[in-house]
Amino acid sequence: MPALAPSLLAADPGHYADRARAAFDAGAEWLHLDVMDGHFVPNITFGPGVVEALRPLADEYDARLDVHLMIEEPQDYVDVFADAGADVLTVHVETCPHLHRVAQQIWDAGCKMGVALNPATPPGHLESILPIADLVLVMSVNPGFGGQSFIPQSTAKIQTLRRQLNALGSNARLEVDGGVSPDNAMELLRAGADVLVAGSAVFGGDQSVAQNIEAFRSALTLKV
Ligand code: DX5
Ligand code: ZN
Repeated sequence: MPALAPSLLAADPGHYADRARAAFDAGAEWLHLDVMDGHFVPNITFGPGVVEALRPLADEYDARLDVHLMIEEPQDYVDVFADAGADVLTVHVETCPHLHRVAQQIWDAGCKMGVALNPATPPGHLESILPIADLVLVMSVNPGFGGQSFIPQSTAKIQTLRRQLNALGSNARLEVDGGVSPDNAMELLRAGADVLVAGSAVFGGDQSVAQNIEAFRSALTLKV
């Protein structure tokens, strides 16, 4: 069943818990948390403390915390984010020369393993991890900031990865992140994505979080 993963990056940092609750109240079953280190990406967000603070709220709603690590040396932080309560830990293939070792570390820490790729990284770079990853995250903007425009070539990349996952018989989730809105949501699901990350389309603008999530629901038949 396709899922919407609201990204808290676009929410007011002084009200993360309230904003997350609004998304869960509106039916979201995933919450996407963007961790940035100011090195791999030109922005800094938050660390494991925010994940830990949101864990009890996610438990209240039986929601999953989907942690996207846009950091260098992610292997040094897998255990702290797992202990903080991440359900899914996604690392960037560009940061992991020893990707299988990091994958094992993530599983040993009790999390689902996700692998992300930047817009400029070809799908072929995932060849050896694809049969075993739990989630593949296609960045459809260059990571670092919310509110950027969707890069159109991402749709073909999603189609390629969906074909490859199907050919492998993989049950991995295929997630798309960046510039996702009710306007392109259906196209992305048709291309083969089954988790849509949305930051500004959920937490930005003048409408309420509930209205924004309703707009996704009306754009497609989507279990959020
Ligand atoms: C960007 C982050 C995204 C971001 C998406 O580097 O990985 O998760 O929150 O924001 P929008 O939906 O506004 O493009
Ligand atoms: Zn993200």
